[in-house]
Amino acid sequence: MTDFYGDLEQLKAQLERQQELKNPGVRVKKRDPKKLLANISQELGNCRRCDLHSTRKHLVFGKGNPDAELMFVGEAPGADEDLQGEPFVGRAGQLLGKIITAMGKSRDQVYIANILKCRPPENRNPKPDEIAVCSPFLRRQIEAIQPKVICALGTFAAQTMLKTNTAIGRLRGRPHPFTETCVLIPTYHPAYLLRSPSKKKEVWNDMQLIMKLLGWPLPQAKS
Ligand code: URA
Repeated sequence: MTDFYGDLEQLKAQLERQQELKNPGVRVKKRDPKKLLANISQELGNCRRCDLHSTRKHLVFGKGNPDAELMFVGEAPGADEDLQGEPFVGRAGQLLGKIITAMGKSRDQVYIANILKCRPPENRNPKPDEIAVCSPFLRRQIEAIQPKVICALGTFAAQTMLKTNTAIGRLRGRPHPFTETCVLIPTYHPAYLLRSPSKKKEVWNDMQLIMKLLGWPLPQAKS
C-alpha cells in the first residue's frame, strides 16, 4: 500500500546515516524536511482516496515549522478548519494557540496536524478505512519532520497513534515510546477543555513535561 513510500523515506535516511558513520568527514546530502513535506503534499494532491473528498471544502495538510521539535496531532479538521484549510483555527484551535504561547513558543515554531486530512461530515468519528488510507501520509510527515515529541490531542488521536483502547485519562501524563527518535505524550483535546475547564491543570502538567523533555525553559512560578 502507500506504506511503501514511508518505508522508502526511512530506508533512505538510514542509508545516509550509515554512510556518515562509515565515512566521517565526508559530507552527505542533508535531509530537507521542507522539501519532503512539499513532496508529500504534492502526492496527496486533490486526494480522492476516501469518500470524505466529496464533502470537504479543503484538505487540511498540516502547518508549522518543518524542523519542529514538537508536533501536535489532533483528530480531524472541524468546520472552521475545513473552510480555511488550516488545522486548529476554530475555538479549540484558539485555546491550543494559548497553550503554545504559555509554553513560550508560537504556532510557527511547532507543527500541527491531524490523523485525518479531511473533515468527517457532522464531525463524526473517523472510520477505520479513512484512517487506513490517510494515516500513512501523517506517518511520512512525522518521518520528514522528525520531531522529538509528539503531543496527541484527545482520545481519538492518542488511541489511534498508540494502537490501544486505553482511556485518555490513563494514557496522559507520561511519555510513550513512539519512534526510535521520538516519544508521544497524550493529553486532553482542547475542545474537551472548553467543556471541562477543570482539566486545564492536567494539560498544563503535560505541557510542562514536554518542555522538560525538550529542555525548554519553564515559566517562573508566580509568587
Ligand atoms: N479538532 C481537531 O482534532 N483538529 C482540528 O484541526 C480542529 C479541531
